[in-house]
Amino acid sequence: MKIAVIGTGYVGLVTAAGLAEFGHTVIGTDKDSEKIEQTSRGTAPIYELGLDELLKRNLAKGTLTFTADVDGAIRAAGVIFVCVGTPQDENGRADMSQVEGVSGRYFVGSREAEPSEEALDQELAEGFWRACEGLAGLRTA
Ligand SMILES: NC(=O)c1ccc[n+]([C@@H]2O[C@H](COP(=O)([O-])OP(=O)(O)OC[C@H]3O[C@@H](n4cnc5c(N)ncnc54)[C@H](O)[C@@H]3O)[C@@H](O)[C@H]2O)c1
Repeated sequence: MKIAVIGTGYVGLVTAAGLAEFGHTVIGTDKDSEKIEQTSRGTAPIYELGLDELLKRNLAKGTLTFTADVDGAIRAAGVIFVCVGTPQDENGRADMSQVEGVSGRYFVGSREAEPSEEALDQELAEGFWRACEGLAGLRTA
């Protein structure tokens, strides 16, 4: 099963490289195309001990790829890790707009037409259980 990691910042890049090192097939995706270019060359835009080696090894093995095509990565994946930012506002609340942006893209990426509210509820419930099954698979892999 392919895993997509949306947002290859501090958390997402380490998650993507680590899951690929464990043998999963991982697609890292980010809206920042410069970040995608750099990570595709095996160079992390952040410092994390050993991360460049993990990137280079798994890029060479083909278990790790990076793309700026967020919708394509969503369509290709059975499990999706959303690792976009949730910065604090002045009152200390998490700004969830990046997460909401990604949920919007999920529906753009995965369907042709706008579904009814009932179909959406059903799909969200099914998606939740698929994600749970996927995560159970990850634990036992
Ligand atoms: N960094 C930490 O040490 C840390 C620790 C614990 C929890 N967290 C949490 O983890 C989450 C991610 O944090 P981070 O530090 O990795 O953030 P980050 O800002 O380093 O990375 C977020 C990435 O998401 C990308 N992004 C934003 N919107 C996108 C979209 N619509 N499509 C594709 N990519 C998009 C950004 O370009 C960026 O590269 C946050 O909720 C944060 O609170 C972070």
